[in-house]
Amino acid sequence: MIEILGVSKSYVKDKKTIDNLNLKINDGEIFGFLGPNGAGKTTTIKMITGILDIDEGDILIDGTSIKENPVLAKTKFGFVPDNPDLFLKLKGIEYLNFLADIYKVSKKERKERIENFAKKFDIYDNLNDRIQSYSHGMRQKIVIIGALLHNPKNWILDEPMTGLDPKSSHDLKELMKQHSRNKNTVFFSTHVLEVAEKLCDRIGIINKGELIFVGTYEEMKKQVKENGSLEDLFLEITEKNNN
Ligand SMILES: Nc1ncnc2c1ncn2[C@@H]1O[C@H](COP(=O)(O)OP(=O)(O)OP(=O)(O)O)[C@@H](O)[C@H]1O
Ligand SMILES: [Mg+2]
Repeated sequence: MIEILGVSKSYVKDKKTIDNLNLKINDGEIFGFLGPNGAGKTTTIKMITGILDIDEGDILIDGTSIKENPVLAKTKFGFVPDNPDLFLKLKGIEYLNFLADIYKVSKKERKERIENFAKKFDIYDNLNDRIQSYSHGMRQKIVIIGALLHNPKNWILDEPMTGLDPKSSHDLKELMKQHSRNKNTVFFSTHVLEVAEKLCDRIGIINKGELIFVGTYEEMKKQVKENGSLEDLFLEITEKNNN
């Protein structure tokens, strides 16, 4: 469970990039975080994960404050950032072992999980290559595997499908569904409305740092336009909010 409680953030004085954001993502839920470029999705995700300080408010991960108890809170989630260009000098396997060490995953468990995920994402044969030799999609895959190694209850993913081939994207969506069925939480941002429509239990739309809709796709249709596709509704809601 992720609770965002009255959170605000400014990068520059007197201009709130995130303005009093309140949002609760429940156990067993896949939540899609949508919004135009620059709306504040990554900023929000960076605050949830403790990368950026929170100016006002607090964020709890399974009840633990990322502000007050950041190390404990960080054990409770796996995070996939929007840019997978990390630790390029390391080999894939070194990167995964490094993360498994940080999260104290036993040798036996890490071996099983690395093998399982790497085979699933068709990257097993590349684990001994340096990450800098990987394609964008391969980097994305290694970061996803690294985020899941410690079997976190909460998954926080910033545009995770970007660069994945259709099969890997499908496999990741299946993993997300399975994870939520096991009463865990998946919070992800995306621009792919079709993914959000099919995958998410609830959707949140942020625009200029303010949450302008939270609910199911069905609720959005009732509120905005029956028979509308998510694209229609998204455009209508964000457009209305700009005027
Ligand atoms: N380090 C920073 N310093 C100053 N402003 C920033 C910084 N990072 C982000 N911003 C600004 O904050 C706003 C929100 O950016 P953010 O990256 O959270 O958007 P986003 O919703 O993730 O967009 P996208 O869909 O393009 O990924 C933008 O106006 C951006 O220019
Ligand atoms: Mg972003």
